[in-house]
Amino acid sequence: MGDLIAYYYFKPREDTTPSRAAEAICEEETTGTWTGISTRQSYIKRLDGVVDEIKPEKEGYIATIRYPGEIFESGNIAQYLSVIAGNLFGLKSLNAVRLLDINIPEELVPFKGPKFGITGVRRLIGTTKRPHVGTIIKPKVGLTPADTAAVAYEAALGGVDLIKDDETLTNQQFCPLHERLQKVMDKLDSARSETGHMVLYAVNVTTRPDKIVEAGQKAIELGANMLMVDVFTAGFGAVQALAEDHSIKVPIHVHRTMHAAFTRNPEHGIAMRPLARLVRMIGGDQLHTGTAGGKMSHISEEVVADNEALKGSFYGLKQTFPVVSGGLHPGLVPNEIKTLGTDIVLQAGGGIHGHPDGTAAGARAMRQAVDATLESIPLHEYAHDHYELERALKQWGVRR
Ligand code: 3PG
Ligand code: 3PG
Ligand code: MG
Repeated sequence: MGDLIAYYYFKPREDTTPSRAAEAICEEETTGTWTGISTRQSYIKRLDGVVDEIKPEKEGYIATIRYPGEIFESGNIAQYLSVIAGNLFGLKSLNAVRLLDINIPEELVPFKGPKFGITGVRRLIGTTKRPHVGTIIKPKVGLTPADTAAVAYEAALGGVDLIKDDETLTNQQFCPLHERLQKVMDKLDSARSETGHMVLYAVNVTTRPDKIVEAGQKAIELGANMLMVDVFTAGFGAVQALAEDHSIKVPIHVHRTMHAAFTRNPEHGIAMRPLARLVRMIGGDQLHTGTAGGKMSHISEEVVADNEALKGSFYGLKQTFPVVSGGLHPGLVPNEIKTLGTDIVLQAGGGIHGHPDGTAAGARAMRQAVDATLESIPLHEYAHDHYELERALKQWGVRR
């Protein structure tokens, strides 16, 4: 079996050498502990981790650590994380440590990956090249099922490809999931008969892992054409259970709420990259990876490379559609496409529902911004004969 290679940025404690600090990671996560032990048998040596390389980086170092494939239980993501992203974060010999990326051997990828992937989702909508445009219903919570459906209808008339629940909306009393789903799907059917355009609705079925497959099945019975899960709050196992169930025949939209608790600090935590690889492995069809210029803190080069982890070749698994979301509006679209390419889902909540002429106009403005960008026409020029875009640009400007 091949080895799993993990890359860590780290800063050793002042009284610890870089090599001793990297060794401490290896020992803690494989066969060692803080002292010699009498129970260590000679046959265990093959499971020792190895520090392959340490090189200086900014104020610290990057270590390349080789974990023997055999220490992993193939297919058990929770166990993988306990090794590559486990106790090491608390070791006193390191002042800071961040898991940057992993290179995982094929034997540890017994997963089927996305059922739909970029191509499958595009096929449902009927696109081949352009970025998809989506919206998050806003306000993020509080609307009744009927009002949620009315907003979805407007967004669909305006030309979005995807409508999604917000990450905190699941099955609260003020907006029960089944009622909301049925009302939204009815309205999307009406919109489709008017526009001829298919729209996906990612209904947020995030719940405890032992209930999520049943929740997904029920949603599909009631007409859901996409399911949404908050992966870091529900757990990888929940997404995997949904994705691997044969009755779940719709794409899975994966939100990453809570990620910044561990991805945001450039010196400590877990970067998005290895997490993105895991989400693709377990079957996420779409995954939020951030924007090049939206409201959330980000490093554009990291987002580009995270998206590449979702799209690059990976043991034959389908590609996961990167979702660009958080503070987007039409004026930001050219920069997003220039930086992240066209295989993206551009999502705007406030940037659609905050349009001075309402949701449908906001959706039109987003689509116009995409069209202008693909035709290489500056937004201000395109806005001359596209009223909704003109109004959006007046409201928010171009590239804040
Ligand atoms: C494409 O990207 O394949 C076409 O531009 C389809 O886009 P449309 O659904 O807006 O026509
Ligand atoms: C998200 O789920 O990514 C946010 O709800 C985006 O909303 P916004 O476009 O209003 O920032
Ligand atoms: Mg949100």
